[in-house]
Amino acid sequence: MRKKVIAGNWKMNNDLNESQNLISKLTSGLSNEKINCEVIICPPFTSLQEASSLIKNTVVKLGAQNMYYEENSAYTGEVSASMLKSVGCEYVILGHSERRTIFGESDSLINKKIKKALQSNLKPIFCAGETLQERESGVTKDVIRRQVVEGLKDILINDLAQIIIAYEPVWAIGTGKTATPAQAEEVHEYIREIIGSLYNKDVSENLTIQYGGSVKPENAAELMSQKDIDGALVGGACLKADSFIKIIKSV
Ligand code: PGA
Repeated sequence: MRKKVIAGNWKMNNDLNESQNLISKLTSGLSNEKINCEVIICPPFTSLQEASSLIKNTVVKLGAQNMYYEENSAYTGEVSASMLKSVGCEYVILGHSERRTIFGESDSLINKKIKKALQSNLKPIFCAGETLQERESGVTKDVIRRQVVEGLKDILINDLAQIIIAYEPVWAIGTGKTATPAQAEEVHEYIREIIGSLYNKDVSENLTIQYGGSVKPENAAELMSQKDIDGALVGGACLKADSFIKIIKSV
């Protein structure tokens, strides 16, 4: 059985006070629930340390939204893997489409970050996804293949168990337009096929592949009932404790 994982990507939302409120609502709301999946929150850097202490002894785990691949030195504005570890992060989102498009991150930069995260015992949530234009011109699979192959370049088979892949069609992120379960499943199955050919069938069958892009309480269960969809990376709907909890309960 593959592990199901629901992760909340807070993006650039919630100052310290708002973070404390959201986490306390989330942890108290989850405390009486039977949870069938792993739950991760990814607050902004400024709330990580506080989040880490607030989620102690709960089911919730901590992730960051980004990091740089160097250990330290003159990289103004950047945060390293060991810094994230030191404030209690277990996961880090890498290659999110907003990082790729707004901040110009390339496949090879993302590959360096994934390698550094693995070396530092941080588990990457590695995102891949096509734009609307790419989907409409029929190159979705080519784009996904390139992002997955380049992103995982030189990553050893034994490290794959530490990685989660998130399929996030760019056209579905924050737009309210969700991929249909069939559209999402097709790409998830394809990603599993790529991993099977890069590594082996065992590794690909055990890999958690999340879907992301306008996941809401109303569509989560149907998406996650697909054979190759093992959870969700949730943006907008994780900013309210009740909707995030509903998504978690739909697993
Ligand atoms: P969304 O964002 O749920 O708001 O579409 C998902 C993501 O970007 O991870």
